[in-house]
Amino acid sequence: MNFDEKIANAAKKNQTRIILALDLEDPDPQRLASRSRDILWKVKDFICAVKINRQLILTLGLRGIADSVLKVADDYSLPTIMDAKVNDVGHTNGFMARLYFDAGFDGIIASPIAGWDNGLDTVFEIARARERAVLLLTYMSNPGAEAFYSLMATAGKGPVKPVFEILANLATEWKANGVIVGATKPEIITRVRELIGPSLPIYSPGVGVQGGDAKRAVDAGATYLIVGRSIYGATDPAKSAKTIREMVFAS
Ligand code: XMP
Repeated sequence: MNFDEKIANAAKKNQTRIILALDLEDPDPQRLASRSRDILWKVKDFICAVKINRQLILTLGLRGIADSVLKVADDYSLPTIMDAKVNDVGHTNGFMARLYFDAGFDGIIASPIAGWDNGLDTVFEIARARERAVLLLTYMSNPGAEAFYSLMATAGKGPVKPVFEILANLATEWKANGVIVGATKPEIITRVRELIGPSLPIYSPGVGVQGGDAKRAVDAGATYLIVGRSIYGATDPAKSAKTIREMVFAS
C-alpha cells in the first residue's frame, strides 16, 4: 500500500485528519522511547499519522526510532512522516531519504529551495521506487516565514509573484504527495488550494500553541492538520486529540 492510501485508510478508520507531531524531549533514550510510545497508545484512535522530527532521532538514533516508535505506529496502521526538511545537494539528499525510508518512514518532508536538478530529484526518485511520499514546504507556520515565503520573485521569465506561489506550482510540477502550509495563515491556504486544485493534500502545522485555528485552516482548504504540543502537552492527550477531531472532522 502506498503512502497516500495508508493515510487515507487511517483517516477513514479513525474519522480524523489529525497528524500527531511527536516532539517529546528527554535526555534519557529509554524514557523518551517509552514516553513516546505511551502518547501514541493514548491517541492512536484519534489521529491518522505520526510526524517525527530530528530531535527524537538525535536521542534515540534511527534504529532506536525504528524499533520503538515506527514499529508501534505500524502496529496501529498509522503511517509515519520524517520531518527532515531535506535541503542539500542530490547525493546527500539521496543518502538521507534512503536511510529514513529503509528505517520504515512512509513519507519525508523536503524544502523545494534545493531545486530539482541534483537537489530533490534523488529524493523523489527514491520515494517513487518505494511508493513513499515527499511533502514540500510551501509556507511555514512561524511569523518569520513571511519575510521569505511572501517575497516577490520571478521563476525564469515568468511574472513576478510571491515565492510561495512559485513553490506551490513546483509541487504540482514535481508530483509531490502534498504541500505544507501553516495553519496560522488561512488566507495563504486558500490561495494555495486555488493554485494546486482540489486533489493534492495540504498539510497544515501551527494549530493551537502557534495560534492557528484548526477549523479555519480546514475550512480554508487544508486536508490534514499537524498538531504537536496541543495534544502531547495536554493533561489528557487523548481528550485533546478527540476534542480537535470532533470540533473539525465530526460529521
Ligand atoms: P506544535 O507543537 O506547534 O508543533 O503543534 C508543530 C509541529 O509542526 C512542525 N512544523 C512545521 N513543519 N513546516 C513543517 O514542515 C512548517 O511550516 C512547520 N511549522 C511547524 C514542527 O516541527 C512541529 O513538529
